[in-house]
Amino acid sequence: MSQNVTSTQGTGTQGTGTQGSPALRIGLAGLGTVGIGVVKIVQRHADLIAARAGRRIEIVAVAARDAGKSRGADLTGYAWETDPVALARRADIDVFVEVMGGHEGAARLATEAAIASGKDVVTANKALLAHHGHDLALAAEAAGRVIRFEAAVAGGIPVIKALTEGLAANQLRRVMGVMNGTCNYILTRMQSAGLPYATVFEEARQLGYLEADPNLDVGGIDAGHKLSLLAAIAFGARVSFDAVELEGIGAVSIDDIRLAADMGYRIKLLGVAQMTGRGLEQRMTPCLVPADSPLGQLEGGTNMVVLEGDAVGQIVLRGAGAGEGPTASAVMADVIDLARGIRLPTFGQPAASLGRPTAARTATAAPYYLRMTLLDKPGALAKIATCLGEAGVSIDQMRQYGHLGTHAPVLIVTHKATRDDIGHAMSRFAATGVLVGEPVALRIEEV
Ligand code: NAP
Ligand code: HSE
Repeated sequence: MSQNVTSTQGTGTQGTGTQGSPALRIGLAGLGTVGIGVVKIVQRHADLIAARAGRRIEIVAVAARDAGKSRGADLTGYAWETDPVALARRADIDVFVEVMGGHEGAARLATEAAIASGKDVVTANKALLAHHGHDLALAAEAAGRVIRFEAAVAGGIPVIKALTEGLAANQLRRVMGVMNGTCNYILTRMQSAGLPYATVFEEARQLGYLEADPNLDVGGIDAGHKLSLLAAIAFGARVSFDAVELEGIGAVSIDDIRLAADMGYRIKLLGVAQMTGRGLEQRMTPCLVPADSPLGQLEGGTNMVVLEGDAVGQIVLRGAGAGEGPTASAVMADVIDLARGIRLPTFGQPAASLGRPTAARTATAAPYYLRMTLLDKPGALAKIATCLGEAGVSIDQMRQYGHLGTHAPVLIVTHKATRDDIGHAMSRFAATGVLVGEPVALRIEEV
């Protein structure tokens, strides 16, 4: 069934909007940061939204676990459901808004129930879509329903709309960005305050930035979920989160941050997706980017997404990737689209037409930053240079700095090499007998 022509006129009977259209009725599952943000926007901007959407948008019923919790918003006008599945099935809602989180359990069951009972779905849940997005999109299309997820990627930045609508005529070359605000906060704070990772991680925890499971942030998983969703739209491919190369920021040291800065770089948890002759490349890894590039200058918890299309060139989108207001703004943009009758397939084209590209086994070649400590004795550096040469890796710059007794810290920047070549060289380092501790290798991304 075509997903972009179906009418969205709700079957609502509660109140009428502008121009006599029935109000669009929301069932809101989740009353945490995002859910309460949605309640506040709907209440604060009811008239403005009705004028723009052409009909009123009303919250009819809400669900959360704890009915007794004080939530800082007036919920008295809404029916209460403890079971999100029951909310999803209510006959008096048109759109099910899922802002609970988690890729299994209530979020998945309620989303499936909503589609099965003829509701459109708006979600902020990147984990759910990264794991089950293809099946949910197929089910929604078969039922003539729509799933929208602007808030799931880069919070308030309208990047899904930019890709699916604004850049729809482009062959996308590359999609990249900083999509986890917590990681960017940690890395930029380490740099500005000269503090080690563990100290800043604890600060981030105190500030409430970290997810309940911090590994979702610092392990790169949350950002990997988001990248896999952008890649699906950009390259007309089924979501393949399992194929994203993931590396978190836990091993990034203050030494690397300082040395990278000395050389004119910043370290970012950077996501890159591109279609290559070897297949679809998707990675979310700590990388060096030029300090004077837009990505290099991105500070604190802000997100940035860079889109490159063959016709449009490069587009840079920057803004708040999280928080009550920005995320609710994106959720409501999707709801307003539904109220306006704008209905697009989940990933920009019918789910059944999405391809299954091969996952590129290795990343495109790039220069690498290598940091290691060597024994300070004659021939040590030569042995390392030989290992690199034998693995086909050419040295661009090499620097020895700040001798520590009998140890010599060494920094090498290579010419373009593949991760495999770098791995082969590093596997030979140990046998030289001159290496102290573990070497560090970070990709230098061309942005
Ligand atoms: P949150 O503050 O933890 O709120 C989650 C809400 O869901 C709570 O109200 C909770 O109820 C409810 N809930 C959880 N499990 C439930 C269940 N089994 N049955 C009924 N209600 C349940 O989460 P959030 O930060 O708002 O995030 C919500 C979603 O948006 C997640 O998918 C997240 O990844 C995504 N997102 C968040 C942000 C952000 O800035 N926070 C940004 C982008 C995307 P109780 O309150 O009663 O416990
Ligand atoms: N934990 C996420 C972040 C929240 O830090 O960006 C928004 O998805």
